[in-house]
Amino acid sequence: MSDENLIQAARDAAKHSWSPYSDYAVGAALKFDDGAVITGTNIENASYGLALCAETVAVAKALGEGRRGGLVEVAVVGPLDKGDGAPITPCGRCRQVLNEIAQLGGTDPRVLCVGAEEVREVALSALLPHAFGPEHLG
Ligand code: THU
Repeated sequence: MSDENLIQAARDAAKHSWSPYSDYAVGAALKFDDGAVITGTNIENASYGLALCAETVAVAKALGEGRRGGLVEVAVVGPLDKGDGAPITPCGRCRQVLNEIAQLGGTDPRVLCVGAEEVREVALSALLPHAFGPEHLG
């Protein structure tokens, strides 16, 4: 799947966002080395602090389906008409959550952060340097 198609998968996922409190729909798409794509979108709650980010939902789906690595690429898309239009990057918690499945398979996924006018590509290791992960636990 091309970068553009992965970004489109993230956009499609965002259509299912449950984000009535922030009105900020986010979509994420994870691409695996066998070609599989698993998506997620942000899921909020009337108890505001319980919101789950799109990337976290996608990783939970992947781990919950038995995937233990093989993550090669991630696309993240937020609303392009809000804020300054700059690409959104995964929040700190999501970086750690993404790192879990990446480290399990020894990959350093490319993260495509989609903005209104540019797609910023960053390695997960650059977003979360010196990460703590499963390999530290032995
Ligand atoms: N959000 C994500 O889904 N991913 C991110 O990386 C940043 C923030 C969600 C959480 C919340 O539902 C909304 O965006 C506003 O913060």
